[in-house]
Amino acid sequence: MCGIVGYVGQQDCVPILLKGLSALEYRGYDSAGVAVLENGKMAVRKEVGRLAALEEKIGRMPLSGVIGIGHTRWATHGEPSEVNSHPHLDSKNRIAVIHNGIIENFRELKAFLQGKGVSFRSETDTEVVSQLLSYYYEGDLLKTLFRVIPMLEGSYALGILCQDQPEHLYCVRNGSPLIIGRAKGEFYVASDISAILEYTRDVYILEDDDIADVTKEGIAFYRETGEQVERQTTQIAWSRDSAQKGGYDHFMLKEIFEQPRALRETLAHYVDLETLTIKREAMPFDREQANALEKLTVIACGTAHHAGMIGRVLIETLARVKTETDIASEYRYYDTIDQPGETLIAVSQSGETADTVAAVRKAKGHGSRVVALTNVIGSTIARESDMVMYTLAGPEIAVASTKAYTTQILLFEIIALDLANLRGLLTDEELRERLRELAALPEKAEQVLSHREEVADFAHSEKGCEDVFFIGRLMDYYTSLEAALKLKEVSYIHSEAYAAGELKHGPIALIDDTTLVVATLTQKRIVAKTISNVEEVRARKAKILLVASEPIPLNNPQDTVWRVPDTDDLFSPILMILYVQMFAYYMALQKGCDIDKPRNLAKSVTVE
Ligand code: M6R
Repeated sequence: MCGIVGYVGQQDCVPILLKGLSALEYRGYDSAGVAVLENGKMAVRKEVGRLAALEEKIGRMPLSGVIGIGHTRWATHGEPSEVNSHPHLDSKNRIAVIHNGIIENFRELKAFLQGKGVSFRSETDTEVVSQLLSYYYEGDLLKTLFRVIPMLEGSYALGILCQDQPEHLYCVRNGSPLIIGRAKGEFYVASDISAILEYTRDVYILEDDDIADVTKEGIAFYRETGEQVERQTTQIAWSRDSAQKGGYDHFMLKEIFEQPRALRETLAHYVDLETLTIKREAMPFDREQANALEKLTVIACGTAHHAGMIGRVLIETLARVKTETDIASEYRYYDTIDQPGETLIAVSQSGETADTVAAVRKAKGHGSRVVALTNVIGSTIARESDMVMYTLAGPEIAVASTKAYTTQILLFEIIALDLANLRGLLTDEELRERLRELAALPEKAEQVLSHREEVADFAHSEKGCEDVFFIGRLMDYYTSLEAALKLKEVSYIHSEAYAAGELKHGPIALIDDTTLVVATLTQKRIVAKTISNVEEVRARKAKILLVASEPIPLNNPQDTVWRVPDTDDLFSPILMILYVQMFAYYMALQKGCDIDKPRNLAKSVTVE
């Protein structure tokens, strides 16, 4: 989705803006642009397509200045075109606006301005902001913002420059993330932390309805009512290198291989690994709350929803708390039966997914307590929830979620074990035993990842494959759902996941000698049933790949087998998926796909 960058300081801002936009490319976009105050005049360059096209244009028509804004646009209102790309100027070319989000009442505002004789250049919702500001402008842009911002409905993060106030960059946030990094004598604005990690980790996270007036001397925060407020900076722990490829060809591959570290760090944050006890202060429930729990609801989208499904099994199996999962985009509109005092767990890597944010707000509106599992400090979901558990995965740049997923599952494992212990279903000694097993997962993850070449070779042998079915039962079914999503989103290969027992109820009609069936066999007590299903697809001549826990006996030499190191059945999803993440990566690689930025997808789905 769209990306925002901005700079105020003493350096030439153009290379900084372009670098920031390049760091945001992973979010998905179809055009890009910058506006710079050059010798007191507004200078704008925009181009459709990749950032390289904008860079090339700037090479031909250079511009420079010490204050500027930049944007990558993911088209919503109006086709990808130069005129629709941001920044958007008012008719007098003195105010430039970049915007993430959607101005929902833009048609009414546009009609009002057109009625006053204002003519528009673009089809976008964003242009109404620059034109409105221009219409009400009387020499003080901050005052104009206090008048105009309350007129806007929808979600927006805005970066605004005004030619008459060449030292000021204005930032506005309502429902769409925006941060301002502080360095010595300079400020860096971005919609996403990864764009500014190179310069500073000291950031202001704007709150909804905040307006920031940024100059190189300092920053002042206001509410849209005009009241001045104080905001404190937050220290971001992510390292500068964590948002770089670090020698890997793609972020996806780097992030796959970061998982042992991400698991170790996340585990160490919640578990004292010397005493093998859970750190009480980091957990969402105390003994009284744990024992009073009657029901939990988990909501999320995409991969995070798949982690939530695994979480449901963990919590129900270990802690015997009835747990429902729902897709956030359904939950938000469904006529749910809610009781005040219920607990909802919202799972989101970015913490900004529009549907998940809406679901959190709905639950809070019904009096639920919301616990967030997220990866991004200060994200909307983190701020609006009653309690946050962070995955310590570090920035996840590739659109395909990998390390966020496995660390989300790890959090569910810790929550489930803790609840089980607090509810008297697991003794302290049993808890220690399970935690010892959890602590062994990072090393076992390394063992799986060491099979990289084998996975790459298999992907090579399956080059022409057009249909892949993932099958499994219980946990293995939920892991299969994530496996199918991973493969289709990066390699564009048609893939589906089925509960193995469902095959006979329809999907088996699709199986023939061109189909690859991947059977997941990690749930020992049910594995014989899935093996019977494997025989059924073998009889239909499907090619078979088995991803199986080490102790499970398999004896058909024709099948390719990938072995998952033995662990507690409940913990195996974290290990099994690593094989499929690598498989998806290598399938995409040999097809020449844009692995980190798959077509039509965006990293952070901040609009509905
Ligand atoms: O940031 P979130 O975890 O809320 O994102 C949810 C989904 O958009 C995300 O998991 C998506 O499905 C990924 N592309 C999957 O790899």
